Amino acid sequence: MRIFLDTANIDEIKKGARLGIVSGVTTNPTLVSKEGLSDYKAVVKEICSIIPGPVSAEVVVEGTQAMLEQAREIATWAPNVVIKIPSTIDGLEVISALTRDNIKVNMTLCFSLNQALLGALAGAAYVSPFVGRLDDVGHDGMQLVKDIVEVFRYYHLKTEVLAASIRHPLHCVVAAKAGAHIATVPFKVLMQMMKHPLTDVGNARFLSDWQSVQQR
Ligand code: G3P
Repeated sequence: MRIFLDTANIDEIKKGARLGIVSGVTTNPTLVSKEGLSDYKAVVKEICSIIPGPVSAEVVVEGTQAMLEQAREIATWAPNVVIKIPSTIDGLEVISALTRDNIKVNMTLCFSLNQALLGALAGAAYVSPFVGRLDDVGHDGMQLVKDIVEVFRYYHLKTEVLAASIRHPLHCVVAAKAGAHIATVPFKVLMQMMKHPLTDVGNARFLSDWQSVQQR
């Protein structure tokens, strides 16, 4: 399972890049607004220059024509930009049109297997089931990831399953076991994934034991 960072924070993305395990970034309008950023194009271009892998940027208009126009504009910002299109009926039409133009799409706000299937049939490069938001309303978000992976495998669909709205490290464990191609994680969750108290205790013990060896 590959790891993307789910953030618009440039420092977090630079740190993730140094770790060498971040192969893409996903942003959304909420994440951009949280950073107090206003120049959307500049932010997306900067992220695309830091991470050579896919960087998802979302359309922020409604209606087929407006979404198509904005998507085509965003697609010119960088070679590695991927357009996030919502899982709506208009969105489906837009995904099909963009796919015909070889523009990569991440179908976002996906909350059902049917939406994922239609997005894949329309040619989306990625579908993003929002796990945490399903959990928030009493559904099992990870079950949706498992179902999508199973159905895509069954029909040999090329669309990748991008587990999104990840809230904690256990989500990453279950997504990996389910066969999700990618998990997009907030920076905090990425840090938590690598942290283990026994590693810290063991490391401190090795260092102090080594100091006693030096003092002999
Ligand atoms: O990847 C989608 C993500 O940004 C949404 O996360 O925590 O707002 O549901 P959240």
